[in-house]
Amino acid sequence: MIELKNISKTFRTSKKKTTALNNVSLKIDQGKIFGIIGKSGAGKSTLIRCVNLLEKPDQGEVWVDDINLLELSESKLTMERRKIGMIFQHFNLLSSRTVEDNIALPLELIGTPKSEIKNRIDELLHLVGISEKAKEYPANLSGGQKQRVAIARALASKPALLLCDEATSALDPATTKSILKLLKEINQKLNITILLITHEMEVINSICDEVGVIDNAMLVEHGTVEEIFTNPKEEITKEFISESLDLSLPPFFQKNITEEKSNHQYCIYKLIFTNQPQYNTVIEDAKKLYDTDIEIINSRIEYAGSINYGTFFIKVNTEKNTTLIENYFNEQRFNIQKIGYVRNNH
Ligand SMILES: Nc1ncnc2c1ncn2[C@@H]1O[C@H](COP(=O)(O)OP(=O)(O)OP(=O)(O)O)[C@@H](O)[C@H]1O
Ligand SMILES: [Mg+2]
Repeated sequence: MIELKNISKTFRTSKKKTTALNNVSLKIDQGKIFGIIGKSGAGKSTLIRCVNLLEKPDQGEVWVDDINLLELSESKLTMERRKIGMIFQHFNLLSSRTVEDNIALPLELIGTPKSEIKNRIDELLHLVGISEKAKEYPANLSGGQKQRVAIARALASKPALLLCDEATSALDPATTKSILKLLKEINQKLNITILLITHEMEVINSICDEVGVIDNAMLVEHGTVEEIFTNPKEEITKEFISESLDLSLPPFFQKNITEEKSNHQYCIYKLIFTNQPQYNTVIEDAKKLYDTDIEIINSRIEYAGSINYGTFFIKVNTEKNTTLIENYFNEQRFNIQKIGYVRNNH
């Protein structure tokens, strides 16, 4: 179990003062995968570094398994840190050491006997699926393989908690998926708690149990992944969800769109929704109620557990009262944004 209580951190340089964390509290049960999402500069890395005290908070308490880390002496803290592994965006491997020697490093530092290290390395290489790379140097590995080495090294001292700072941000989509799958497997096999930070909602959706949203140094929203996707309260959370769908107006419409209504018979809207089991019915009902054409020109729907969320671009005939139609979608819990007007033949 990890608990952060009222953590604050301000960085002061000779020129300015930056509050990176402002009174952040959160609790993570053993065995859970907790994701923190936030924009660049929101305070994510500072938060994760406060958990193992790589960064010392100005205020607050950091509890790991009923121990307040801030009250420990330097030597006791070193012992407690062995229960916390960490991986990074750029892997942080030692280029002069082979894969097996990188993984051995934390064990050598705590004086583990050589034969024990050898067995542990074999186990770890097998766990992360790169046994055949034991004698390679990091320069000869792909990004995904390097991150597997970093994961094995982080797990060497059998930690109860794994911290992941943007662990998949330097990887392509397919490799990202395979690393996320590995993290989930490790979480389930070893019952290890994972705290990860990311700026991508897909990462949260694919492996996390719970999510916290950090904005401007504050934890503005948190809950289970399904709760947050069912009813995102903060604008920034809604933005993360809709950005993750990565849907844009087709280029053909982009070329022909204008802000001027005159002589244009169709209005284009973007509709964004979460938790709308009846989205088809809502659109069909709008057509009947307002006796108008509504054509879907692009759409994407995804699921977070059993909760759907999606984005549509629709084309509505402007001969009808479009304000009424806009109000109707708002009442049905769709976020509706007017994009512009197009001519009849577009
Ligand atoms: N050592 C430091 N000295 C001064 N300011 C710092 C330091 N570390 C972080 N900051 C500032 O604190 C704020 C939060 O930084 P942090 O690295 O936690 O953000 P982040 O959410 O991880 O961003 P990114 O997604 O870009 O990695 C930023 O404004 C940053 O400039
Ligand atoms: Mg960061």
